[in-house]
Amino acid sequence: MRGKHIIVGVSAGIAAYKAIEVVSRLRKAGAEVKVVMTKNATHIATPLTFGEISNHPVAIDMWEEIHDWNVEHIALATWADAYIVVPATANVIGKINAGIADDMLTTTIMATPAPKFLCPAMNTEMYNNPIVQRNLADLRSLGYHIMEPEVGWLACGVTGPGRLPSPEFIVQWLTEQLSSLENKHLLDGKTVVVTAGGTQEYIDPVRYIGNRSSGKMGYAIAAEAARQGARVILVSAPTSLSVPANVELVAVDSARSMKEAVDRLYDSVDIVIMAAAVSDFRVANKAEQKIKKMESMTLELVKNPDILQSLGERKTHQLLVGFAAETEHVVEYGQDKVKRKHLDMLVANDVSKANAGFNVDTNEGYFLYPNREPKVMQNMKKSELARHIIREISDLLSFKS
Ligand code: CTP
Repeated sequence: MRGKHIIVGVSAGIAAYKAIEVVSRLRKAGAEVKVVMTKNATHIATPLTFGEISNHPVAIDMWEEIHDWNVEHIALATWADAYIVVPATANVIGKINAGIADDMLTTTIMATPAPKFLCPAMNTEMYNNPIVQRNLADLRSLGYHIMEPEVGWLACGVTGPGRLPSPEFIVQWLTEQLSSLENKHLLDGKTVVVTAGGTQEYIDPVRYIGNRSSGKMGYAIAAEAARQGARVILVSAPTSLSVPANVELVAVDSARSMKEAVDRLYDSVDIVIMAAAVSDFRVANKAEQKIKKMESMTLELVKNPDILQSLGERKTHQLLVGFAAETEHVVEYGQDKVKRKHLDMLVANDVSKANAGFNVDTNEGYFLYPNREPKVMQNMKKSELARHIIREISDLLSFKS
C-alpha cells in the first residue's frame, strides 16, 4: 500500500462508521487516502472525522468550492490508483450500474480509470433482491471487484448476508486484490525457511517419541510463500503430506537434526517460520539395537535445544516467526514467548478449542508482536490462515525496510 493513492467512497449505509477505520488502516499501511462521501452518508459519519483521519478535505458536493485542494472530479479521478466504496449501498450500486453520475461519488467513480472495488453492505432482503444481485453481476462483468458481505447480525435486527466485513479484512482484501492485479508477489526475491511436522526422538532404531502434529500448517505456509514468489526451503520432520510445488525439501527427524538444518541455512535467509512441533525432550541414551521385551523400563529424557530461542538470540537481518500451542492465557503466555525468543511475530493457537491446532484443518488464536497490539485470528482453514500469515510477514518486511 506504500505510496498508493486510494479514494475511499462512503455511501449512506449504517456501516459507514467502519469506513473511518478503513481509512486509518490504509494510511497506517502507507497509502495516501482521499475520501468522497455522498450527502446522505454525512448523516451517519461526519466529514470532519474523515477529514482528520485522511488528512485531506472530504469531497461531497460537486459545486462547493474547497480552496486548498482541487476537487474537480477529473483531477480526483486521475489521482487515484484504486477506488473503493465502503459501504456500497443498494442505491449507489444501482446508480453506478445504471451510469448515473449525479453526485461526487458516482461522478468520480465513473471518471476514474483506476481499478474499482465495492463493499456492499445492506439489509439481507435488499442484498438478496434480484435487482441488486443483477446490478452486482453486471458490475462484476464490467471488471468491478465486489467483496462478499458477511453473514451475521445486522443493524435492522435480522441475521443474514449483508454485513460489512471488518475494516481489517477490507484492507487486507483490497491489498490482495491490488497486488494480484499488479501481478506482484508479496515475497519476490526473499528466501524463506519453514519448519513443519512433529520431530521424532528415537528410543531405539524402530521406536520414537513423537507428537500429534500433522505438518499441515507448515506445509500450507510453505505453499503460500512459494506462490508469493519466495524461494522456500521446507525443513520437515516426517509427515504424510506431499511437498508443495516449487518448494525445496530438507528432510529431518529429531529436534537436533532440525536445528542442524536450520542453523546451516540461517545466515542466508530472510525469513524463518518455525511451524514445527519440536519435542522439548529427547531420550538420553538411544539404544543402538532394538530393545527387547521386558517387564518394565524407564526412559530418561534430557532437554532438547530450543531452536527458535537460539535463532532469536543471534538474529541479524532475519524476520523470525514462531508458533505457540496454548491451552490457557493464550495472549499472556504468547507475549512472553515473543519477548523471550526475540520474535517478530508469534502465531498463538488456542488448542483448547476443538477446531484449532494439531491434526485438524482449521486454526484460531492470535497474531502477537513485540510492539503492536495483538490481532485476533478467527477460526479459519489452515490454507486461509497461511495466506494471512504471509500477508502479515510481507507487511512486517515493508515496515522494516
Ligand atoms: N520450538 C523450538 N525448539 C524447541 C521447542 C519449540 O524451536 N525445542 C519452537 C516451535 O517451533 C514454536 C515455538 O518454539 O515455533 C513455540 O514452542 P512451544 O513449545 O509452544 O513453546 P516453549 O517456549 O517451549 O514453551 P512451553 O513449552 O513452556 O509452552
